[in-house]
Amino acid sequence: MKVLTVVGARPQFIKLAPVSRYLRRWHREVLVHTGQHYDDNLSEVFFRELEIPAPDYNLGVGSGTQGRQTGEMMIRLEEVLEREAPQAAIVYGDTNSTLAGALVAAKRHVPLLHVEAGLRSGNRAMPEELNRVLTDHVSDILCCPTETALRNLAREGLTRGAHLTGDVMYDAVLHNAGIARQRSGILARLGLEVKGYLLATIHRAENTDDPARLRGIVAALNALPGPIALPLHPRTRKVLAQQGLALAAHVLVLEPVGYLDMLALEMNARLILTDSGGVQKEAYFLAVPCVTLRDETEWVETVEAGWNTLAGAETQRILAAASASGAAPRAPAAGGATLFGDGRAHVKIVDLLAEVG
Ligand code: UD1
Ligand code: UDP
Repeated sequence: MKVLTVVGARPQFIKLAPVSRYLRRWHREVLVHTGQHYDDNLSEVFFRELEIPAPDYNLGVGSGTQGRQTGEMMIRLEEVLEREAPQAAIVYGDTNSTLAGALVAAKRHVPLLHVEAGLRSGNRAMPEELNRVLTDHVSDILCCPTETALRNLAREGLTRGAHLTGDVMYDAVLHNAGIARQRSGILARLGLEVKGYLLATIHRAENTDDPARLRGIVAALNALPGPIALPLHPRTRKVLAQQGLALAAHVLVLEPVGYLDMLALEMNARLILTDSGGVQKEAYFLAVPCVTLRDETEWVETVEAGWNTLAGAETQRILAAASASGAAPRAPAAGGATLFGDGRAHVKIVDLLAEVG
């Protein structure tokens, strides 16, 4: 079968890797990169490290407002779909690249498979929430990473084509954690000791685009005991400079790092503070306590298991959650194997293509 895959942003390259490797054993994949992320350390590094074949198309859409970025993607994707006439299309996650791919495929009646279907935060102010809901409602095969996701879809009447596959990010961690242990030298490079530092990431629009929230988070990082490694998304770097917000010397501000360095930083951290979806899950897979700098999470299982605490963006709440996280009672993190699948989500997903083939 000829399968057209659309990706464009950092977490999608990581989700794509295990699926693409297996898919190409059975099908012909036409890989489209929308160009949503274009810096080497947000895009190319993942293709190199995860040995993802070069995209067949890079649409070079780049940054822009929500409407312009999504619209440009749709215009250029439609031409590719017309030329390639695939038998199925695959989209991942909840970015603007996901929504553009989903709308164009659905309107051209190309059977659509959504990897990471059914996630909900309940917060429609997030662009990602709109992208998820709309993508799920035009998809033919809905690949849910968790039971919660499957239930969320049922609540919206989406049961046909919905399957529990497990989470491809768990597959990716199983495949790459050992490689990261062997190859990454980032701790030595930064002078960090195993379990002797914290790791933080901040990039979600609800935090970067709200000055009070961003100030609250920065004040918390400045007050926490260091060192804190902070690989910084360019969006956040820009806003910090615009707002004149300074980070204390114990916060090591880094360029975004590659996946193997990120896994090494995660697995050796004492605590992770993040507003990233993927990083919350990886903290759980790697048995590292996590404080989530958001008011809600799609990954409720990690909170219920005691490994993740929702702290929002208020300084005192973040500090309290960070100091309590060492003592929180937890289910064994090996629960990753059941709550997020068995490491073979990529196989189940590719097998599901038979439903439309
Ligand atoms: C996007 C996704 C978000 C995901 C994140 C992963 C949407 C709506 N959001 O957010 O769900 O968690 O990717 O990292 O799709 N920029 C660069 N270089 C790049 C790319 C972006 O400097 O290669 C800067 C630009 O100033 C740009 C800003 O980052 O305006 C935001 O980029 P964009 O892709 O629009 O959204 P993300 O915040 O990356
Ligand atoms: N990640 C990375 N380098 C970084 C920050 C994150 O490789 O500097 C990885 C991280 O390990 C996870 C994914 O990127 O696999 C998460 O992406 P991101 O936080 O950008 O988006 P989200 O998951 O919130 O959509």
